[in-house]
Amino acid sequence: MSESVPLTIDGKTIELPVVTGSEDEKALDISKLRDATGYITLDQGYGNTGSCTSAITYIDGDAGILRYRGIPIEQFEEAPNFIEVCWLLIFGNLPSAEEYGDFSERLTKHAMLNESMKYHFQGFPNQAPPMAILSAMINALSCFHPDMIEMDSDDRFITAAARLISKIRTIAAFAHRSSIGRTYNYPNPNLLYVENFMHMLFSEPHAPHETDDIVRLAFNLVLILHADHEQNCSTSTVRLVGSSGANLFASCAAGVCALWGPLHGGANVAVLEMLEQIHKGDLSVEEYMRQAKDKNSGIRLMGFGHRVYKSFDPRAQMLQRVAEKLLAHLNINDPLLEIGRRLEEIALNDSYFVERKLYPNVDFYSGIILRALGIPTNMFTVVFAMGRMPGWIAHWREQNLQGSRIGRPRQIYTGPEMNDYVPRVQRGWVSDSAADIIPGRPRPTFDL
Ligand code: SDX
Repeated sequence: MSESVPLTIDGKTIELPVVTGSEDEKALDISKLRDATGYITLDQGYGNTGSCTSAITYIDGDAGILRYRGIPIEQFEEAPNFIEVCWLLIFGNLPSAEEYGDFSERLTKHAMLNESMKYHFQGFPNQAPPMAILSAMINALSCFHPDMIEMDSDDRFITAAARLISKIRTIAAFAHRSSIGRTYNYPNPNLLYVENFMHMLFSEPHAPHETDDIVRLAFNLVLILHADHEQNCSTSTVRLVGSSGANLFASCAAGVCALWGPLHGGANVAVLEMLEQIHKGDLSVEEYMRQAKDKNSGIRLMGFGHRVYKSFDPRAQMLQRVAEKLLAHLNINDPLLEIGRRLEEIALNDSYFVERKLYPNVDFYSGIILRALGIPTNMFTVVFAMGRMPGWIAHWREQNLQGSRIGRPRQIYTGPEMNDYVPRVQRGWVSDSAADIIPGRPRPTFDL
């Protein structure tokens, strides 16, 4: 017998069905609440509200657990393969050799961009934010692949997924090369995913870039650790946009925009800027921590805190290990890593952070790793988007398979009560016509 709980409002009692997940999470199904009581619920930031059921990722924020299709992320540390995890997240199973081989071929086949997309890169100013370019160019893919607008077969969907996962890497690299005025490095079909990205980013005509195995494995793990995280802001954005029937490219382009925010994926850039500010001596570690605790400072300890993790973010722990190993391998003694360790040590013993259960999150160490890999700071969030792409695709597909309704939240209106329009002449206009306002005012010259 399905479980329910009674709710009594204005003397009327209704039963709210209880939904229980496979890890025993409980939810009240309020889909009939408004019809039955006239009430809606209000939950700014959705901290207590589930938007869907999903079988992709499980997080236990109190126990610091993160599993992709049931597999704890720690188990990917040994032999990380980002493309394998892409398949797992999107299709729900670890790929067979046949599935992996076919998907890998499609990634290689679709790594190139339509040559005329290069004119878009040339149209952006050099200092254009790479996340703006990324979102624009991912959206533009639906112009170059109109056959991807309608997903009328699994095969077409697999190709669309391969196109996005492969082309986001090429777009990212081309955006960087264009911003530094360098030649584009076309994808090399003989290179694997990460090596090809590093080649497209860093090769020069006279000096092809080589990626060693430690770097390749570290980068695969970084991408895996960013691959999905249930209903985070950007993934929820992809689902909401996709719920209107918008195509996969448009939905993921919207996800890029949401990820850009400094409270979300943009935090990895903010963490590095914070560490550099302390390193330059603008602020001591102690002074920065004081300001981070002062509500009026407008400063937060970037890379710390999380809506869900209230013990530790397992990704942060794994990324700290990656940072230590990679910097040792590359023989880099990055003072920012030491400052990061110091900030973490202070925060973990400071009542302000302890009481609010604020711990390092995925963004706290990722910037130090990407910096060690030579990735420019303005590309950090782009790399986060590359990692998160399979998660966005998986959720877009899951929602389409679930056949969900268009997302359309309610609100509680707090604006003015009903009032009347006041005719223009009663507001000091010389007449009803806008044309009468203009003659007396100089026409402004154009500004961009
Ligand atoms: C990501 O959702 C996901 O899964 C996201 C993500 C993913 O994989 O998709 O994990 C990726 O976005 C990680 C988060 C990256 N952002 C940052 O590192 C930015 C710094 N962190 C915060 O801004 C904040 O912790 C959030 C945005 C991450 C979480 O915000 P919440 O859950 O809305 O928490 P809150 O703002 O309500 O804060 C609760 C309290 C407040 O103090 P009080 O009002 O209770 O006194 O904690 C304080 C906050 O002021 N607080 C911080 C803080 N984070 C929260 N104080 C100082 N420094 C911080 N970083």
